[in-house]
Amino acid sequence: MKSKEYIFLCTGKDCKRNGSKELHRDLPELLKKKDIRSKVRVIKTKCMDHCKKGPNVIHANRLYSKVTRRFLNDIISESFLTDKD
Ligand code: FES
Repeated sequence: MKSKEYIFLCTGKDCKRNGSKELHRDLPELLKKKDIRSKVRVIKTKCMDHCKKGPNVIHANRLYSKVTRRFLNDIISESFLTDKD
């Protein structure tokens, strides 16, 4: 059985201003729709020092910048639903 995956979402001041609060609110619903809610843990972080590119998300050692709800949906689909484990 594969261990839980993590999504790190910056909730620093600038990212929050650019929408990370809404992303955090929407994430459970996005994960639930893809039936992976129990496999993913969402971690709110402080500033990642990429403020001008926020909201920023880290998943699988990759930094994603200017993340929108749609982009987040794509990240989740690509990362989790193509994994055959
Ligand atoms: S506030 Fe998110 S990277 Fe700085």
